[in-house]
Amino acid sequence: MKAYSEKRNAPSAERNQAPIGAQLEKFLPPNAHVLEIASGTGQHGAYFTALRPDIIWQYSDIDMDAHDSQAAYARDNSVQLIMPFRLDVTQDGWWQGIASITNVYCANMIHIAPWAAAMGLAKGARALLNSGEKLFLYGPFLMGDDSARSNLDFAQNLKQRNPTWGVRELVDVEKLFFENGFRLEKTINMPRDNYLLIFARNLVAR
Ligand SMILES: C[S@@+](CC[C@H](N)C(=O)[O-])C[C@H]1O[C@@H](n2cnc3c(N)ncnc32)[C@H](O)[C@@H]1O
Repeated sequence: MKAYSEKRNAPSAERNQAPIGAQLEKFLPPNAHVLEIASGTGQHGAYFTALRPDIIWQYSDIDMDAHDSQAAYARDNSVQLIMPFRLDVTQDGWWQGIASITNVYCANMIHIAPWAAAMGLAKGARALLNSGEKLFLYGPFLMGDDSARSNLDFAQNLKQRNPTWGVRELVDVEKLFFENGFRLEKTINMPRDNYLLIFARNLVAR
């Protein structure tokens, strides 16, 4: 049996959890049941559930190693944090069998995965969320000619590491989610040239 000391700490998640949390605190509905895609270390779920004792937070990740750290955080707050399960958003039908989700949260995944991951995220969120329910997407985005220098440099760096990765253009992400039944409600400027995008499921039949 493993010891309970597997919690990992990513300095970037440590830095951004407070500013993201300040927004989620405002925009998550009462008693939200959040599915986090790509939970990484699990720090975000732990921090946000402490801010909002009314919410339930489901961890998930494609990476089984990351589950150890998420599970370690979940053991500290087993009322609000639900043990992780393996979820690969590029697998068609990943959303089947998932129930009672009111919100989807995904940070820093779509630039560090193929575009198919963004497509799978949008498709699954469409299937899971009801009219008006929100999806939160955090990370760097390009803004065409107005892109931040840091994000253009980061985009180039990612492409060198893996040609299928890359900082995505906000217009492409907005179009993808629009095609999957979401409207972009808010684009919130965050520290270090990041953004929090809040998409709401359209008031249309599925
Ligand atoms: C840069 S980390 C971000 C972790 C965390 N969300 C954060 O902001 O600190 C990227 C995460 O995306 C996950 N990931 C990559 N491809 C994925 C996929 N196809 N489906 C689900 N998760 C994926 C990785 O395992 C990793 O945990």
